[in-house]
Amino acid sequence: MKNLTWSMKRLAISLGCVGLVSVIAGCNESSEEKTLKEAYENYFDIGVALSPKTYQLYDASIYQEFSTVTAENEIKWESIQNSEGSFTFDSADIIADFARENKQKMRGHTIVWHSQTPSWVAQESESGSVDDTINLMLERIETHFVAMNERYGDVIFVWDVANEVISDSNDPNERYRQDSIYYVACGKDDAKFEYFLSEVFKMVERLAPDVTRYYNDYNLAWDSVKRAKTITMIENIEALGANVQGIGMQSHVNITMTKETFAQAIADFKNSALFDELSVTELDISVYTSDSEPVMNVLSEEVAQKQADIYGDLFELFRENDEFVSNVTFWGISDLATWLDNFPVYGRNNYPLLFDDNGEKKEAYYSVRDF
Ligand code: GLA
Repeated sequence: MKNLTWSMKRLAISLGCVGLVSVIAGCNESSEEKTLKEAYENYFDIGVALSPKTYQLYDASIYQEFSTVTAENEIKWESIQNSEGSFTFDSADIIADFARENKQKMRGHTIVWHSQTPSWVAQESESGSVDDTINLMLERIETHFVAMNERYGDVIFVWDVANEVISDSNDPNERYRQDSIYYVACGKDDAKFEYFLSEVFKMVERLAPDVTRYYNDYNLAWDSVKRAKTITMIENIEALGANVQGIGMQSHVNITMTKETFAQAIADFKNSALFDELSVTELDISVYTSDSEPVMNVLSEEVAQKQADIYGDLFELFRENDEFVSNVTFWGISDLATWLDNFPVYGRNNYPLLFDDNGEKKEAYYSVRDF
């Protein structure tokens, strides 16, 4: 019983049931084989994004494949401080405690992001002046970050200080995402927005000097215009005194991705000499190549093999760049609970990860681990 139906998936996830999936389908795990993190110990860290619904879906051994953890949603602003001054740490604590118990480090995701962030964070100042608003936003971010750092500073080793600020437009002059609450609050003024970003990076450096500061975004492998804008943004904020140490390539890609395309992106970031390191922060490989492609009710051997080949090619590339690549994180533990089941098409089963619904290793797993 390789593939559970969508309704069964939802039942299992919504019950948050320990081992339910294993009970339904049988869970196997050989403890003698190398884990991913062991296979890659001389290259880079291997991470996984978890949520309170997925951190105990399977036998504990599956989670030992990874050396770092990212909270899928629990450390985002709306989860922690949805209304000003009222902090809720319960869900984030579950993931942080899990990481501590398993001696895993945690990626902090994320601080400045236009999404999953309440609007009060960018509410304009009483005076209405943009400069006052920027100062107020910085104060709010500092209060927020201090609280996060007090609670999770022992386990979080890297922060995505800013996420997805770059515009997707082909127009090279439209550098920033136009509808971001932060960009709007900065008067849609590139220079003021860059000042704001540089101050956030400086703040994190001041408050948590040991943490590695990242800029994180999507489509950086596909889109060379976006990559160029990203590099310009980093140059500009570094000229203002920020120090951005890492570039995070989210890497929600699909089975048409190639090693050559990805290699160009890594080379561009390396050649920019702006970063000490690069991490692949949200890797998954969708089996669909368009929104109109009909649902695959099972993952055919042919598609599974194609996906495995691409995973293998990408990890070969990452190993070739191991002096620059610091971490590769998968965006989810298994195909059972992937955000891609509902994006970009709601309810379309996807199979983007290394483990299937039952927590069993797919072809893709072996082509990543065995090289
Ligand atoms: C972006 C964000 C992630 C997550 C994914 C979808 O990549 O950075 O936090 O929300 O979208 O799951």
